Amino acid sequence: MAATTQESTTAVTLLLLACYCCLLAASSADADAIADLARSLARPPPSWTAGGDVCSSFKGISCSSSSGRVTAIDLAGMGLAGTLPTSLSSLTALESLQLAGNALSGMVPPGLGEIPSLRNISLSGNYLQGPVPRFAAGVATDDVFAGNGFCPGQCDAQVTILLQVAEGFGYPLSLARSWRGNDPCRWYRVFCYKSGDVAMILLYDANLSGTISPAIAHLTQLRRLELSNNSLAGEIPESLTTLPNLELLDVSNNMLTGQLPKFNASVRVLSDGNRFGDEPPPSSRSVIL
Ligand SMILES: *[C@@H]1O[C@H](CO)[C@@H](O)[C@H](O)[C@H]1NC(C)=O
Ligand SMILES: *[C@@H]1O[C@H](CO)[C@@H](O)[C@H](O)[C@H]1NC(C)=O
Ligand SMILES: *[C@@H]1O[C@H](CO)[C@@H](O)[C@H](O)[C@H]1NC(C)=O
Ligand SMILES: *[C@@H]1O[C@H](CO)[C@@H](O)[C@H](O)[C@H]1NC(C)=O
Repeated sequence: MAATTQESTTAVTLLLLACYCCLLAASSADADAIADLARSLARPPPSWTAGGDVCSSFKGISCSSSSGRVTAIDLAGMGLAGTLPTSLSSLTALESLQLAGNALSGMVPPGLGEIPSLRNISLSGNYLQGPVPRFAAGVATDDVFAGNGFCPGQCDAQVTILLQVAEGFGYPLSLARSWRGNDPCRWYRVFCYKSGDVAMILLYDANLSGTISPAIAHLTQLRRLELSNNSLAGEIPESLTTLPNLELLDVSNNMLTGQLPKFNASVRVLSDGNRFGDEPPPSSRSVIL
């Protein structure tokens, strides 16, 4: 008899322990998503300290007391810049997301509209770009177009490509203020032919960091690509060698590494002041060895 009681006590303890663990697992996945958000913001709120408890000490975050899941993020009007990480849509207990009146740029993660618990979201008054986010009928939203740079309807093909280029640079605000809507020929430092095809991207001396997107190769009429005097890292995408009309590629004075791809002799390539041919960092070298 005593043994049976002990066994069932053990079973109950294990069950409770399992539940406790699964609750912990859920909230730690949410904590990871919030950590991603913190990394994506240029300056996260000062109370968002590494190792701090997301639910009790992070300003603007509310959690369910029973499940430990994040249920509300209220960061409206906090002067935040940066982007929204795709992992935001893994917050599947989120009910309210208030982001209006900041300086956020880049795309809204497509999965955000599919969070079933979402009831109330505000995004107006930012510099968000790309496809307009869609939400279920029961979700209260503000006027998402107000202040933002979403494409009305479907994004133009060149817009989609140029936003990939902006993504490589981390969607800087200096571009997001102008790279909005569906007519890239009016965008800052983008120049088109009369036909509407992009002819030149002149982003020299533009305080850009990040990488050069291989998507540029899809702008098949591109004649000049000037990216000198920035802080671009990574390699020059091989795909750029396929641009049939390229006349000038100027990437001088950046921090580019790897090998300079082989361009057709008709292309003038300016590439001084980079780190081509540098040894790969020790971590990637040890992978090769
Ligand atoms: C949505 O949330 C905002 C901010 O908390 C609030 O002002 C508004 O009334 C809410 N809308 C609905 C329909 O609950
Ligand atoms: C790049 O910077 C150098 C040195 O500051 C300057 O002389 C040059 O004019 C700049 N070039 C462009 C294209 O901005
Ligand atoms: C350059 O970009 C950084 C962020 O990447 C920003 O903090 C800084 O203010 C920018 N400088 C200028 C002169 O725009
Ligand atoms: C390379 O340049 C030559 C002229 O210098 C031109 O005839 C040829 O079509 C170009 N090839 C490509 C792939 O652009």
